[in-house]
Order: sequence, then structure tokens, then C-alpha cells
Amino acid sequence: MEVSAQRLTARRGGPLRGRIKPPGDKSISHRALILGLLSIGETAIEGLLEGDDVLHTADVCRELGADVVRTGEGCWRVRGCGVGSLLAPRKTLDFGNSGTGMRLMMGVVGGHGITASFDGDASLRKRPMRRILDPLLLMGAEVLKQAEGGRCPLELKGASEPIPIEYRTPVASAQIKSAVLLAGLNSPGRTVVIEPEASRDHTERMLKYFGAGIEVESFGENGRKISLEGRPELRPAPIAVPGDPSSAAFVLVAATIVPGSDVIIESMMMNPLRTGLLTTLLEMGADVEINDRREEGGEEVADLRVRAAELRGVDVPAGRAPSMIDEYPILAVAAAFAHGQTRMRGLNELRVKESDRLEAVAAGLRAAGIEPRIIGDDLIVEGHGGDVPGGGLVATHLDHRIAMSFLCLGLASRRPVEIDDASMIATSFPTFRPQMERLGAQFA
Ligand code: S3P
Repeated sequence: MEVSAQRLTARRGGPLRGRIKPPGDKSISHRALILGLLSIGETAIEGLLEGDDVLHTADVCRELGADVVRTGEGCWRVRGCGVGSLLAPRKTLDFGNSGTGMRLMMGVVGGHGITASFDGDASLRKRPMRRILDPLLLMGAEVLKQAEGGRCPLELKGASEPIPIEYRTPVASAQIKSAVLLAGLNSPGRTVVIEPEASRDHTERMLKYFGAGIEVESFGENGRKISLEGRPELRPAPIAVPGDPSSAAFVLVAATIVPGSDVIIESMMMNPLRTGLLTTLLEMGADVEINDRREEGGEEVADLRVRAAELRGVDVPAGRAPSMIDEYPILAVAAAFAHGQTRMRGLNELRVKESDRLEAVAAGLRAAGIEPRIIGDDLIVEGHGGDVPGGGLVATHLDHRIAMSFLCLGLASRRPVEIDDASMIATSFPTFRPQMERLGAQFA
């Protein structure tokens, strides 16, 4: 569905204060539905992110044979068909804006003897899918149709007996890793994925939780080797989705840069492969207390108390990128308010996100009176020490994280900041505006 562009302006007001519970984690929400589809029996999910990306995945699960029902706010039941027993879809699978939904489902279809057409919005049609198709072809899947450069719309014929492979991912990508593992579920043998740098491990954790035979070993300095036994009988298990650190990131930075703020973020997931932004903000001098660390639904969560603080620029190593890959736009905003220079290294992968995020962030900062530089794959921001001009209209390029990042900038800059389209925020954080307004944010 095409949504018309909604302009939105953020302006400086009083401090942000109060408590906020971020929405359910997007990565875990997609996986909960997909593993529900692939197990026999009923999977009960609590705290599911009801954002557009995840709702598209729910529809696709239905199309592949699952019974998916919403039973209350964030509460869903999935009655799956089990590995090896998916239905061939009768219509094109539409993933909207969601690269994760599409890539994970390509893995599912690629490992089953069914044919499916994949499509999405204008942003998703620009994103590279070859990185997923390459290993699936090795496993015996076939690409029947594709747009130029291995992009969607495309048609994939899965392998009914996927060949067990050992695959080294060319970049640290949880989506590539997960697609291979999901295809490997229906393989008669052992599928092995080796990743050069550890990426988020929710697929591995959830597969284990559903009873699959899966082993994870360290590989080299920062990499991992994951081995999965094919054809497990996945047993449904209840899932409580923890708060999304990638959504909490906006609150974390907004409360840091808006003077006088004091905010509690409840139940944020603390998986170490997702907390690179928190590590970086603490290095920059952010005032964040981590309270009541506890386990919820197989992941560690905590409540964070964030108070406004003066930041200093830092050098963010490339090796940290996988643990904060979606957080660079909002980190760049924090860097604009810091004293001194922040250099964010190794951001090549940002070029293939919902937009070319490296260019979109640089252009947004320029619109707000900051002069960033891109040198190779690094983004360099000279901070204005709390006094950011603002003003300007930021182009969001169908990218929810660009939209939310620059709204947060506008909450603390001298002049208001307008974004050209807030509609995409609904893909990952549908309650962003009312929840931020409750803390005191001024949007119009
Ligand atoms: C995701 C993995 C990341 C991230 C995306 C969600 C996932 O992509 O950017 O928003 O849920 O697996 P890559 O694995 O391609 O880096």
C-alpha cells in the first residue's frame, strides 16, 4: 500500500521527562512469526512489534500456510505447519519496506520445494538480494525471474531437498546468516555458516529454544561458526519479545541532547550484539544508569535511566559496526551535539539499508547546519558542542531511521527541523510520536 508523504517538524521545548517502554524488538518479532510457521502446534507471542514490517511478515506466514491470529495488544498466536510442509503461495509475497522480512523468507522458501514471487516498496526494490540468492543457489534453489542486479521483484523456486553447505558470509550480516540457516532447516544434512564478525544471534538463540540441534563456536578473533542439524522437529515455545534497542536508541539520544532531560527506558534488550550504541554513548560521556538487569524470554533486559549530558567526540572502531549497524544515523545526531570530532569507521553496509544511509545522514546533517565528511567508508562529524543550528528540510528517502533521527535532532537544535515524510516511522516504531510527546517532545 502506498502511503502519502506526511511532513513533520520537531522543535526545541522543555526537557524530556518520564518513563517509556520501547516497542518489541523488530528482529525478534520477525523470527518469532517465522519459527511459529516452521513448527507444528501453537506458538504464543507476547510483546510482538505491531509495525508495518512485522505485519507484512505475518501476512506472508499466512500465505505459506500458518494460522496467525492477533489475540490482544502485542499478543499473537501462530499455528504452524512445520519444516517441509509449507504451502505454495497463491499471490506475490509483499514485504513492504522490510529487507529483514524478505531476506529471511527467501531462506525459508529457498529451502522448501515451492515457488514464490517476492516484492516490496520502492526502497526495497533498490536493495541487493544477490547476497541471499548466492548461498541459496548453492543449496539447489533457482531464481526464475529477477530485476536487474538481483533485485526484487523476483521469483524463487526452492529446493525440496536443500544441499547441506558450509558457507562463509562475505559480510557480517545476520540476514545472510539467518537465510542460510532457515533454508538449512529442511536439509537432510548439517548446514554450517561461518561469519567473519559476529552479527546479531537471535536466529540461533530462537532455533535452540525451539529444540533444533545447533552449535555455535567462536571463529578467529571476532567471528563465529554455526552448525545446524537439518530436519529438526521444532517445538513451539512461548515467546516474550524484549524492548527493541534500535528503537530505544532514539529516546536514549534525545534524552541526552535535550537539556534537563531525565527519562527511564523500561525493559530494553541488552544482547551484547545489539548494544554498540550504548557503549559508544557511554564513551562519549552520556549519563546512563543501567538498572535491574534481568532475563526475560531468553534475552537479558534492563531499565535505563538517561539524563542529559555534555558529550565529547570519539573514534568508533569498524569492528563495533555489527552491534550498532542500525544506530549510526542517531549516533551521527549525538555526534553533532558533542564537543570535538566523532569518526565512525567502516560504514560500507550503511549504503544498502532502507536508503543509502551514509549519504542520507550526511545530507540531513548539512540541512541542519553541520558539515560532515565522508572519507572512504568513514563518516566524520565535527560537533557543535550542544549548539546545533537546525532549520532545513530533511529528505528521508523512505527510511524510518533517518526520519526519527532528524526529528530527535530538531528537539534540541536552535531552529526547528522538518522531515519530508514521517509515514515510514510506522514500519518499526508506530507509537514513536505519541510516546515521545508524552515525554515532552514538540512535534507539529
Ligand atoms: C537485521 C539485521 C541487520 C539490520 C536489520 C535487521 C536482522 O541487517 O540492519 O535492520 O533482523 O537480521 P544485516 O544483517 O544485513 O546487517
